[in-house]
Amino acid sequence: MFEPVPSHTSVSLGTQKVRVAVLVSGNGSNLQSIIDHIEEGKLNASIACVISNREDAFALERAKKHQLPSFYLNHRSFSDRRSFDAAVLEIVREHSAELVVLAGFNRILSTVLLDAFPLAILNIHPALLPAFPGNHAQRLALQHGVKIAGCTVHFVDPGTDTGPIIAQAAVPVLDGDTEETLSRRILREEHRLYPGVIRLFTEGRIRVEGRRVFISPGEQDSSEYLENPRF
Ligand code: GAR
Repeated sequence: MFEPVPSHTSVSLGTQKVRVAVLVSGNGSNLQSIIDHIEEGKLNASIACVISNREDAFALERAKKHQLPSFYLNHRSFSDRRSFDAAVLEIVREHSAELVVLAGFNRILSTVLLDAFPLAILNIHPALLPAFPGNHAQRLALQHGVKIAGCTVHFVDPGTDTGPIIAQAAVPVLDGDTEETLSRRILREEHRLYPGVIRLFTEGRIRVEGRRVFISPGEQDSSEYLENPRF
């Protein structure tokens, strides 16, 4: 079911400024939060390029506003997934990116990209994986009736939202929630979690053993449980 990942792999880039390629398809609020963290000096990174597979993605406007190299590649004009990924890879390489960050990018990656960036492609997903992978995660969480929802940052593998989990944040599902209100609550956490994980990456603090990801030195919430509702 899961693709095997190398064991005992340590990702370490030291303290240098990490060049990040951001792949987007939509609004780009996660891209914005990464830009803001960089501009506020909270992330030792720079955005090497922004690539969208949708011409009307507002994320492209955000990139232009911040004078970031931005590109639109129409996936429909490529004969298959691998040739689209090869074009993405060319741009990513031309801009010397070391980390690839999927921020609302709605395409599955082929091995063309995955093999070029082993354990250096991240994704954010609006659910507590492995629950609700794929599209409409917030809607499915509501329909299922879960009491705690959230978001996950994980390494990308060939599956749909199946790669090793790096970090998760939880939010309560409230009685009056709609897909929109729940999505907004989750997004607020995404905007905190994603830059946080990128920072860990830039600090070389992420270690992967099989499917388990460890952060050094430990910076974890040791409270014994999260609950919703509270008793
Ligand atoms: C975010 O909620 C992200 O987690 C989700 O799309 C939204 C993009 O928002 N990604 C997925 O569902 C991927 N399976 P944004 O464009 O405002 O960053």
